Parts: sequence; structure tokens; C-alpha cells
Amino acid sequence: TELNLIRNFSIVAHIDHGKSTLADRLIQGTGTVADRDMKAQLLDSMDIERERGITIKANSVRIDYTAKDGQTYVLNLIDTPGHVDFGYEVSRSMRAVEGSLLVVDASQGVEAQTLANVYQALDAGHEIVPVLNKIDLPAADPERVKENIEDVIGIDASDSVMISAKTGLGIPDVLEAIVTRLPAPTGDRNAPLKAMLVDSWYDAYLGVVVMIRVMDGVIKKGDRVKMMQTGAVYGIDKLAVLRPKMVDWPELGPGEIGVFTASIKQVRDTRVGDTITHERKPTAEALPGFKPAQPVVFCGLFPVDAADFEALRDAIEKLALNDASFSYEMETSAALGFGFRCGFLGLLHLEVIRDRLEREYDMDLITTAPSVVYHLHMKDGTVRDLHNPADMPDLTYVDHIEEPRIKATIMVPDEYLGDILKLCQDRRGVQLNLTYAGQRAMVEYDLPLNEVVFDFYDRLKSVTKGYASFDYQITGYQEDYLVKMSILVNDEPVDALSMMVHRDRAESRGRSMVEKLKDLIPRHMFKIPIQAAIGGRVVARETLSAMRKDVTAKCYGGDATRKKKLLEKQKAGKKKMRQFGKVEIPQEAFINALKMD
Ligand code: GTP
Repeated sequence: TELNLIRNFSIVAHIDHGKSTLADRLIQGTGTVADRDMKAQLLDSMDIERERGITIKANSVRIDYTAKDGQTYVLNLIDTPGHVDFGYEVSRSMRAVEGSLLVVDASQGVEAQTLANVYQALDAGHEIVPVLNKIDLPAADPERVKENIEDVIGIDASDSVMISAKTGLGIPDVLEAIVTRLPAPTGDRNAPLKAMLVDSWYDAYLGVVVMIRVMDGVIKKGDRVKMMQTGAVYGIDKLAVLRPKMVDWPELGPGEIGVFTASIKQVRDTRVGDTITHERKPTAEALPGFKPAQPVVFCGLFPVDAADFEALRDAIEKLALNDASFSYEMETSAALGFGFRCGFLGLLHLEVIRDRLEREYDMDLITTAPSVVYHLHMKDGTVRDLHNPADMPDLTYVDHIEEPRIKATIMVPDEYLGDILKLCQDRRGVQLNLTYAGQRAMVEYDLPLNEVVFDFYDRLKSVTKGYASFDYQITGYQEDYLVKMSILVNDEPVDALSMMVHRDRAESRGRSMVEKLKDLIPRHMFKIPIQAAIGGRVVARETLSAMRKDVTAKCYGGDATRKKKLLEKQKAGKKKMRQFGKVEIPQEAFINALKMD
């Protein structure tokens, strides 16, 4: 295809503002998929994405569109994930296209994640077309939202395209705007092949599928190509475009986007951002590389039933095939037995993986307290990474500890601002900035990531009734007074509940833990002391009195559905208790004890 007839773009939108619905409309409106094959929200291919309504993996579709000028254009849409944890995937897919549609719900306005993604698009040099969606809603206020876009993002929104992705209103205008307002790609067909590895995933039938954007040269089936970073050479077995199903394609030239397979064994053998060139006639210079995403949140995953360990290993290996940003290694815990220490890009990533293990692989899991990566500066001058509080060495060897800090951006309607400031303050936050745009405030905080990994999102949502949006970036490491807090039940340390906390907050965190555990642990025939301790010093203590009579009714906390689930599981005959010395602790205790109020 000629360069001037290609347009490559992504869609930037906040969750629920209508990205998937718009993508479906564009695909449908151009006859890319026959109506009878149209499944709602085609692009969100993973079940969990559809169910949870969030987009996780980047995906892509090639659309043919005959414009008002009579020419037929090729439009390549690269789908980008909307959530903060996947910012890295956003940035790389942005570099594969020249423009973005900025979709904003005309009844809502710009949200924090949108802002982060728009900045990524601007960084990548994109032309941006604002699209106001949901103008069918009575609450839609396009003029106000235009102003909001100009105030908050600082781009011209006067000729925003007004649409309703739901009714189809304005969809032709979006297609025309893509063609007339977004730039065509550039590239040299006669130069040596230079293609960017945008994404890769594991397909049960085809093996590893690699998505590429060609910059220069031409790639064909049968070519021998080299990955410049890894040095590996492969023969292209299959070359295809996505519409959105794979359709075999003879060749891809500059500006084009497609996929190939090449007998690559695992996703880990492909580096996102790598440059692909011909083995024989390589390009002289690779594209600027990407750093691999580093896991920032770690937690232990243990099977409730020790006999399920092998099944858990199997499930984790399968998931990792398709997700190179998820790391794992075996871990043993005195309390929980064999399990895995896993690393994630963020909290949502953690939740998604845990959810998939529980639902797709039917695992019953105990998750330990999420932890960030601390830098331990040892007295001998070395620096160690600490991923697990259980590995904390004796303090006499440690000079000081540094923890990761983030810059958090929160957008919230005025009336909830006070609650947000309080929440951030309580979490050791330092306010950086506070601005208003309309009735919404945008506040920036410097916060320790350690205070955010527990239940910050949940708290944020509940204090603002779901109206706040949140985004963060890690800014660096900073020294602080951090200590390891251990929990002892009946004088036995429960390693899975130990955590790193700020010294000033150890008492209050310890108190809330032991109080909760007191409610969560069923009574036994004897008295059970429950303590929180720093080193040898007890900072909080409760005593669970000995059992009198009927206790089953009070055994478990949690809501009705959880109780029902528990009952079902008990029916299945699985034992949900863990033995600690002489004490049995229910699985629920681990989960609930780690929630803060
Ligand atoms: P994620 O996939 O979670 O990122 O969300 P999304 O941005 O893709 O939003 P999605 O397309 O799933 O739309 C969110 C909700 O808004 C759905 O319930 C849609 O039916 C609804 N919606 C989308 N477009 C419109 C519109 O133009 N008008 C109205 N009234 N509702 C819409």
C-alpha cells in the first residue's frame, strides 16, 4: 500500500468512556467484519477483559475505508490498555502509530489515566483528534467538556468530533477525521528492512505471534529475519494482518502493521521494542530500544491445599507464557508451605493474574501482603533488593533502607477533595500541586508506593463514590525509617503476615492487624495471644479467649457471597484452615487481615 493511503492510530480513553464501542463501530461501519460475525467488543479478546470491561493486552485491527475523496485507505488501529499498570504497553504501541483519537465521555470530562496516556501520545509526536462520545446522553455537555480538554490537556478542542458510539451518530465523521487530520506514515521501501516489535503473545495453535510495525523495507513470508537485540534469527512461517482475525498477507511495507509466526518457542524470546531486520541485508541502525518493564509489586501465592502445588506451578507457567512482565520463583514459607513469590507491574496486574488463576485454573489461593521492592544499604557498602519482608536480614547489618516513591495524579469532583487530601496525608503523602478545571480538582502527591499497594484504590473509590481517577509513576527511591513488623499467633511468627512499615505507623498498623485477626481466627480450647512485634518488641497485643460453646456461626467475617462461596467449598470437602503450631487459621484471615481501614 502506498504511504499516503495509510493511517495508523490508537485510541486514548478512560475506562468506560467508550473506546471499545467506538472501535467496534469503526470495524463494523467499514465492513471489516460481516455483521453476522460481529461480537460486541471484538477487540477485547481475552474473556477476563470482556468480563471486567478492561483492556489488558494491546491488539490491532486493519480496516479498509473508502473516503469522501474516493480513495481507499488502510486504517490500522492499535488498541492500547487503559490502566496505569500497563503504561509501558501504552508507550510502546504509541510509538508504532502517528496519531490518536482522544475519546472523552461528553457527560464526564478528562480523567487521570486519560491524561497520562495523552501525554504519552504527545511524547510520541502524535497528532490528536478529540472525540466527544455519548452525546446522546441527556447529561452530555460538550461545550463544558471541550473547555475541560483545553484546560487540562492544553490542546485545541474546538473542532472535536461529536459522536455517539452507541447509536452510531458521527461515526463517518470520525473516519473522515482519521484520513484528513492524521498524518500518513513515512518510510523507505527500498531501504533495508527495519520493523518494530510492538507486541507478542502465545497462541495455542500458532505458538508465539509477533506484531510488528514496518518502518523501512519490505517483509515477506519465508524471509530470514534477525532480532537485533537478542541476535536470534528466524524464518517467517506465516505473515498476516488482523481484521481482527488473522488473514494471510503476502508482504508488508513501510507504514504497515501486521503479525508473523516464526517457530518462536516462548514470548520471553521476544523483546518488545526490538528491531527486526533481514539476516542478509540488515539495517545499519536499530530503533531506539525499550527498557523491559520491571515488576514493582511482589506477593506470595500459595495453594490453600498443599496438594495443589503442582497444579499451581502448571497454571503459573501457562500464564507466564503469555505475559513476560509477570515474574515468579518458588518460595517456601514456614506457615504456608510451598508456593511462589510473584512480581507484577502493579496492583491491577496482580489482581488480574490472581483472578485468572482462581477462575480459569480453578485454584484456591492464599495471597500474602503485597510488598514493594526496597533497597537495603548494607553496612559493608553493598546494596540489596528486598522483595519479601521474610528475607529481611538482621538489622545490625543494615545501614539504611530506601523505598520507592511515586508521583500520583488524582482527579476528583470538588466536593470530595477534602477526603482525598486526608487520605493522601494519612498515607505519608506530600502535596505537590493542586489545580482546578471547572468543578474538578487535579491534585498531585508524592507518596510512598508501599502505602499505595495495600488498598489505596479501594479507599480512593469508596471515599469518592467512584468519582475519582488515579494514575501514578514511580519517581525514585528515598530513605525512610522502615521496619519489619512480624505477627505472632500463640507466640509463633506467621511469616506470611509480616510486612515492612514506617516506624511511626507500626503501632497503628500493628493494632489494626491484631484486632482484625482476633475477629478472624476462630476460638480454640485455649487462650491465644495475638501480637505485632518489631524485632523483639511487642507493639500491639490482643488475646483471643478460649472457646465456650457454639462458635461456628462467628467463625468467618466477610459478606454474604463470600460466606456462600465458603460453604460451597466446605461442601466440596476441602479444608480451608491452616495449622500454625496448635492454632488453625482460616484462609480468609490472611486476606482480610491485610485490608486497612
Ligand atoms: P474499557 O474497555 O473498560 O476500557 O472501556 P471502554 O472505554 O472500551 O468503554 P466501552 O466501549 O466498554 O463503553 C462503556 C459503557 O458505555 C458501555 O456500557 C457502553 O454501552 C456505553 N457507551 C459507549 N458509547 C456510548 C454512547 O455513545 N452513548 C451511551 N449512552 N453509552 C455509551
